[in-house]
Amino acid sequence: MPPPLLDRSLVYVTGKGGVGKTTVAAALALAAARAGRRTILCEVAEQDRHSRAFERAGVPGRGEREVPLAEDLWAISIDPSAALEEWLGRQLTGPAARLLSGSSLMGHFVAAAPGARELITIAKVYEIAQLERWASGSRSYDLVVVDGPASGHGLAMLAAPRTFGEIARVGTIRRQADKVRALLADGERTGYVAVCRAEEMPVNETLELGAALREEVGLGLDVVVANALAPTRFSAAEAAALRAAPVTGAAADAVAAALAEDARARMEQAHLRRLRRGAAGAHVITLPRLETADELGLAEYGELAGRLARALR
Ligand SMILES: Nc1ncnc2c1ncn2[C@@H]1O[C@H](COP(=O)(O)OP(=O)(O)OP(=O)(O)O)[C@@H](O)[C@H]1O
Ligand SMILES: [Mg+2]
Repeated sequence: MPPPLLDRSLVYVTGKGGVGKTTVAAALALAAARAGRRTILCEVAEQDRHSRAFERAGVPGRGEREVPLAEDLWAISIDPSAALEEWLGRQLTGPAARLLSGSSLMGHFVAAAPGARELITIAKVYEIAQLERWASGSRSYDLVVVDGPASGHGLAMLAAPRTFGEIARVGTIRRQADKVRALLADGERTGYVAVCRAEEMPVNETLELGAALREEVGLGLDVVVANALAPTRFSAAEAAALRAAPVTGAAADAVAAALAEDARARMEQAHLRRLRRGAAGAHVITLPRLETADELGLAEYGELAGRLARALR
């Protein structure tokens, strides 16, 4: 049996665009930090969202820096160009290092080998997850939670070390790629989480993602989070009684709205059953849709963290 999800070194969160990957990654990281694990939330896509709620709480901005968010919780937004320079800086010395630095570096690299951006990003994730860091004096963490790019790109990033290992048969890049690949394929150290909505297409895509992941890295999904579920408020009998209720005007509108919401919740429950049947061993966890006037903030991340921690126990 692999260790519980949050006891591993790396948790990679992916799923379709907009389903709640960033929210779930933040909540998982918070849950681990609350359990006393030194955790870093790592954003790898060029979006810029996860620590906004934390920033509103007074945490300074970021960049290629590890910024504290809460007790035992840090965040970093990986910039592939900066990560590449840092990595090459370790590999090259003297004039070669000077020649191969600057802003066009990533351009040369990507031209030489498409997928280089993904490789260097996931290599940086690997580096953060190591006890021994590229730069001496860097902090070490118990857990890295990756807020990954959406499904297709998320998979491409996981596939990059293998693709590169095949291109570069020997040498530093090959060794680096092999180490990253070994971490990604090690179920003792790495866990995979897909976030989805309980709807027709998202459930299908999540099941496909699980299969593709197994193909690509040799491990399946550990956890599927069905996010933002509508509440189930009525039994079938109650819904029927409401439908038959002789109401007019504003009351009729309210009843219609409640029934529509109820129908939606039922539909979601049906897709959820389908998800559970097809999940191939993944633990399916549900999170409710939280009602807020604004974007979710710290309080909501905290609530979701509590729910995830309980479900993962
Ligand atoms: N359980 C929830 N209840 C209510 N709102 C939620 C919930 N989960 C996520 N949201 C909201 O849905 C929106 C999308 O969530 P999030 O940014 O986490 O998705 P994402 O998958 O990271 O999106 P992207 O693909 O753009 O990175 C956000 O406004 C977020 O606050
Ligand atoms: Mg996101």
